[in-house]
Amino acid sequence: MDTVEETITRAKDTSDTGPQTTRTPHVNAAQYHSLYEASISDPEAFWSKQGERLDWITPFTKVKDVSFDLGNVSIKWYEDGVLNVAANCIDRHLATRGDQTAIIWEPDDPAEAALHITYKDLHRNVCKMANVLEELGVRKGDRVILYLPMIPEAAYAMLACARIGAIHSIVFAGFSSDALGARINGCDAKLVITADEAPRGGRKTALKSNTDAALLHCKDSVKCLVVKRTGGQTTWTDRDYDYAEMALEADDTCAPVPMNAEDPLFILYTSGSTGQPKGVVHTSGGYLTYAAMTHEITFDYHDGDVFWCTADVGWVTGHSYIVYGPLANGATTIMFEGVPTYPDAGRFWAVCEKHKVNQFYTAPTAIRALMAAGNEPVERYDLSDLKVLGTVGEPINPEAWNWYNTVVGKGKCPIVDTWWQTETGGHLLTPLPGATELKPGSAQQPFFGIQPKVLDPQSGVEITTTEAEGVLVLADSWPGQMRTVWGDHERFEKTYFSDYKGYYFTGDGCRRDADGDYWITGRVDDVINVSGHRMGTAEVESALVAHARVAEAAVVGYPHDIKGQGIYAYVTLMNGETPSPELRKELETWVRTEIGPIAKPDLIQWAPGLPKTRSGKIMRRILRKIAEDDYASLGDTSTLAEPAVVDDLIENRMNRR
Ligand code: WT7
Repeated sequence: MDTVEETITRAKDTSDTGPQTTRTPHVNAAQYHSLYEASISDPEAFWSKQGERLDWITPFTKVKDVSFDLGNVSIKWYEDGVLNVAANCIDRHLATRGDQTAIIWEPDDPAEAALHITYKDLHRNVCKMANVLEELGVRKGDRVILYLPMIPEAAYAMLACARIGAIHSIVFAGFSSDALGARINGCDAKLVITADEAPRGGRKTALKSNTDAALLHCKDSVKCLVVKRTGGQTTWTDRDYDYAEMALEADDTCAPVPMNAEDPLFILYTSGSTGQPKGVVHTSGGYLTYAAMTHEITFDYHDGDVFWCTADVGWVTGHSYIVYGPLANGATTIMFEGVPTYPDAGRFWAVCEKHKVNQFYTAPTAIRALMAAGNEPVERYDLSDLKVLGTVGEPINPEAWNWYNTVVGKGKCPIVDTWWQTETGGHLLTPLPGATELKPGSAQQPFFGIQPKVLDPQSGVEITTTEAEGVLVLADSWPGQMRTVWGDHERFEKTYFSDYKGYYFTGDGCRRDADGDYWITGRVDDVINVSGHRMGTAEVESALVAHARVAEAAVVGYPHDIKGQGIYAYVTLMNGETPSPELRKELETWVRTEIGPIAKPDLIQWAPGLPKTRSGKIMRRILRKIAEDDYASLGDTSTLAEPAVVDDLIENRMNRR
């Protein structure tokens, strides 16, 4: 008899009927509870076993070495182990599943053929890309920026970096050239990999010309490798290299470089409550162990299933659940270039039918947008292969949950509402299919090894009663946790470990109900969540004030039916400037170029003044209330320097309901 632990370490498939799935899930309710207990009482033993999911060149002898003490924060997992992440995602599968499809690529235009890339194909292509990178002078530890459409070359490039020990940093193709340039310089990248154009929703983004613009502000030595996706016209400079040409010449084998478990795998820039985006650093052994385990257990992935995560590889969701987790598990993973509503609102379901998708993972904002298009586009397609549905990025409202459950899942697919962050590498709170009684809108319970605590936000004292409301922190580490902020360990400590001593602070508020289930109530800092994209209000503000006619700006989130939160900007113009619809448009375009289309304010209110304390601090609480059209309960305004400005803001508020 297998122990429970062995069962989930080695994922087996039996064909009994489970409570909510049509086969025995990897973990049932009783196993969840006993194994969770074991993971907390003896983390070393638990994670040592889980580390066996990977193939190690030199096996680890140390499992965990962690300190959350401010001034001395250090997180290490499997620290003396040596492995290669690409070999774990490709080479070790070749003997048993070389001809199995690793990646199904579905293009933006449904009339274009999908690609079925086998593990053998993947190996060949990644080796070629790795050799091209080496030829361009990229070595172990060097940084490579990826600014690409959702094309197979994006996965090849990620894995090629991992193969030679280079550190990739993906910049979402929706970001502007300024944002791209800041990231190239931020991590001192040697190379940028981009494409001529990115087709998305029938439109094309000129990635190469954005890259050219970004590189004007970077060192001359930065090279640019170009994948020709559309064949669209591009200018060509001395620093540019044609990927197809080089790949033709490149050898199709390349030995994977042995990497220490704690060598960085990638950097991913994400927004915080202050300053510029920070480079979240994930390392090799722990990250891959955690991505692989959560992919298998959370989605109840069984060998032979087809898994689809609709995210973009520009976000952490795409890293962990399109590329690293699924490929480490030898899965078939879908990579989709397009958008949910092109050519029509049935596209997701058309792709599910076409590729017989078993697990489908998307964001609440997409579900709400598709729900608004009605049931017909869903009912047009055969979704009978679906077994598990997932959501990520923001709390899901019960209406959207119910629609997802009944119309998409036909009431027979458990929905896993996965709460996690760029910083966490993988899921931390989530129901498990077949093990959890589901509650719409709740991320419910901790994954193995995760110790969530609810603290009183003011005192920082833990609330130990089952029912609790406060800020969400984590009492101990897990292998997928970020290790540092690139080039700024002090900022890492300050951001996550200084507010509540001895804990990792998530930045989220939460409620724990009488059953002990967790409900995320949203960010408690100045981070907003727009269509599942994370945005620092400070970033949008600094973009606005960089405009010559803007004196001051304050940005807050407000409830938005489709996007979850919209961006509401209060703008004070320079003396002598007058508000106009043209200026409003100009500011919108300005923010798009400074950051990217996802940062464009939904509402701009002209503010003759902003509510400030006598010491000059902007009272955001008041601005949030007005943006929410909830100005009757402004709370204490007695500390305002000029109470009259509030009356004007209320009078001219933009979001009347
Ligand atoms: C923030 C992290 C992790 C990949 C996508 C976002 C919010 C995420 C949920 C969920 C409620 C959620 C949190 C978190 N969030 N998932 N299931 N329920 N809120 O990653 O951009 O790093 O954003 O997204 O506020 O802190 P991210």
